[in-house]
Amino acid sequence: MGSINAGERVVMLSGANRGIGSKIAARLAADGYRLSLGARRTDALAESAPDVGPDRMMLNHHEATDLDSARGWVDATVERFGRIDVLINCAGIVDRTGLESMSEDVLDDMWAVNVKGPLRLIRLALPHLRKSGSGRVVNIASLSAKRVKGDSIVGYSMTKYALLALSHAIRQIGWDDGIRVTAVCPGPVATDMMDPDDDTIIQPEDVADLVATVIALPNTASVSELLVGCRMEAWA
Ligand SMILES: NC(=O)c1ccc[n+]([C@@H]2O[C@H](COP(=O)([O-])OP(=O)(O)OC[C@H]3O[C@@H](n4cnc5c(N)ncnc54)[C@H](OP(=O)(O)O)[C@@H]3O)[C@@H](O)[C@H]2O)c1
Repeated sequence: MGSINAGERVVMLSGANRGIGSKIAARLAADGYRLSLGARRTDALAESAPDVGPDRMMLNHHEATDLDSARGWVDATVERFGRIDVLINCAGIVDRTGLESMSEDVLDDMWAVNVKGPLRLIRLALPHLRKSGSGRVVNIASLSAKRVKGDSIVGYSMTKYALLALSHAIRQIGWDDGIRVTAVCPGPVATDMMDPDDDTIIQPEDVADLVATVIALPNTASVSELLVGCRMEAWA
C-alpha cells in the first residue's frame, strides 16, 4: 500500500480516559483519525475526550476483565464506522508488592487487565484488521517487558513480558494480511502510575507522539519493539 490516510482509518484505544491513553486520544484526534475510545469509567472519558464531533469519535464502556464488554465494544465500533484499522491496548495496572508477599489475587488481577484484556481485543478485532490490509496493533508494554528491575515490580514484569510475547505472536500471525504490530516499551512515564508532576521522566505526550508515528508507517516499515528510556540503562 501507499501512504496511510488517517482520515479513512478507525482506531480503537483502551484506557483512553487518563494518563498515556488520554494523550494518545488527543494526538490521534489532531491527526484526523476516527476514534473509538474505551474506558471503564465513561463519565471520566466524556470529560477527558478530545473535542471532536460524533462523526469522528465514539465513547464506549470497556472493562478489560470482561469478555462481553470487549465483544460489545468491537461490535459497536464496526456497526458505527464499518471498519477497524488500528487497535491500541493501553489499559493497564501495576502492583508493587514483592514476590514473597504478593498475593495470587493481585497477580490474577494484573494478568486479567494487562494480558487477557489485550488478548481478547486482538482476537475480536483480528478479522477487521485483516480486512483493512494495513491493520495495526500497538500494545503499551513497558521496559518491564525487557528487564526485571527490582523485587517490587516482578509481578507486573511477568505480565508485561507476556504482553510482549503476545505482540510478537500476533505480528507473525497477521503479517501476510498486512497487519503490523508494535510493542511500545517505555520506562517510567509521568502519569498517576508514577508521578504525573515528575518532569525528569518520560512525558505521556511523547509516548503519544511515538504511537502516532508507528501507526502511520507503511506496511514496508514495521517497528516490532520500541524501547523508550529517560535514564541510562542497558536496554534503553
Ligand atoms: N506510567 C508508567 O510509568 C508506565 C511505563 C510503562 C508502561 N506503562 C503502561 O502504560 C499503560 C497506561 O498507563 P498509564 O501510565 O497511563 O497509567 P494510568 O494513568 O494509571 O492509566 C491506566 C489506564 O488503564 C485503565 N484501566 C485500569 N484497569 C482497567 C480495567 N479493568 N478495565 C479498563 N480500563 C482499565 C484506567 O482506567 P481508570 O481510570 O478507570 O482506572 C486508565 O485509563 C499501562 O498499560 C501501563 O502498564 C506505564
